[in-house]
Amino acid sequence: MRAEIADDLDLMYLKIDQGLFTLLRPPPGHQPDELRMPASNTTKQTAESLRRMKSVHPIPMLTAYTTPIARSLEKAGVPVLLVGDTVGMVEMGFDSTREVTLEHMCYHAGAVRRSAPSTHIVGDLPYGSDHDSDTALQSARSLLEAGADSVKLEGPKLDLIKHLVTNGVDVVGHTGLTPQTSASFRQVGREAEDAARIREEANAIAAAGAFMLVLEHIPDTLAETITSEIPVPTIGIGAGPSCDGQVLVINDAIGLGDKWPPFSRQYAYVGDTIVEAAETFVREVRERAF
Ligand code: KIV
Repeated sequence: MRAEIADDLDLMYLKIDQGLFTLLRPPPGHQPDELRMPASNTTKQTAESLRRMKSVHPIPMLTAYTTPIARSLEKAGVPVLLVGDTVGMVEMGFDSTREVTLEHMCYHAGAVRRSAPSTHIVGDLPYGSDHDSDTALQSARSLLEAGADSVKLEGPKLDLIKHLVTNGVDVVGHTGLTPQTSASFRQVGREAEDAARIREEANAIAAAGAFMLVLEHIPDTLAETITSEIPVPTIGIGAGPSCDGQVLVINDAIGLGDKWPPFSRQYAYVGDTIVEAAETFVREVRERAF
């Protein structure tokens, strides 16, 4: 009798457990907040804390342009977000980054800041917004006001970098492939002369006061040499695994869009998910099932 009661109780508890589990179970693929890995960036990184990560902690960086993405990336613990001028190509339908204006960049920097308050945000100075030192300083201040913590600019604009740094602006440099001025998106630095130029530029940009340097689409060996000789972290994109950190355009990383650079990596295929969801919606509406 006791055994039967015990069996009944076990069954009852099992049913209650299962019922509760069913009630509490999140939809497939959804992970409740309390089960997530804690974000590693509970304290916002500064230019100085990022600089000190060189050779100690690899630095992950992703681009972000909008609220839902910035929220998710902060939740995931990405320590640095780049509001890059790639926004023009991956979100605005332009053929190059040259059409992107300072106004566009401030709009996106604001959206990302409001949505990722605890994450270091680098804002790109768009094409033409840094053609002389005073214009660059004004543009940088607009980006900082919009929410960026530091700014990034392309190429060996050494006087300009010094001017910004002297005026209290934290600067990220960018060499190798520099899309604002390059004629194609092909890898650069393969020939000895070009490699020497990029190496020289990298050293000069660091010496001018940049606290971090993006190396885009150059041979792995060249990136390794530069990383070993400059005192600030290198962040590679298509520059091999020896860099101090890596940056990816978020649309490439999550498989949004229909073509991605060969050196990028897709961690998901969100574009396919959108198509499937939209197709299902269209079918359900047509079948009066929704
Ligand atoms: O604008 C951008 O997203 C960039 C990355 C490609 C580094 O500069």
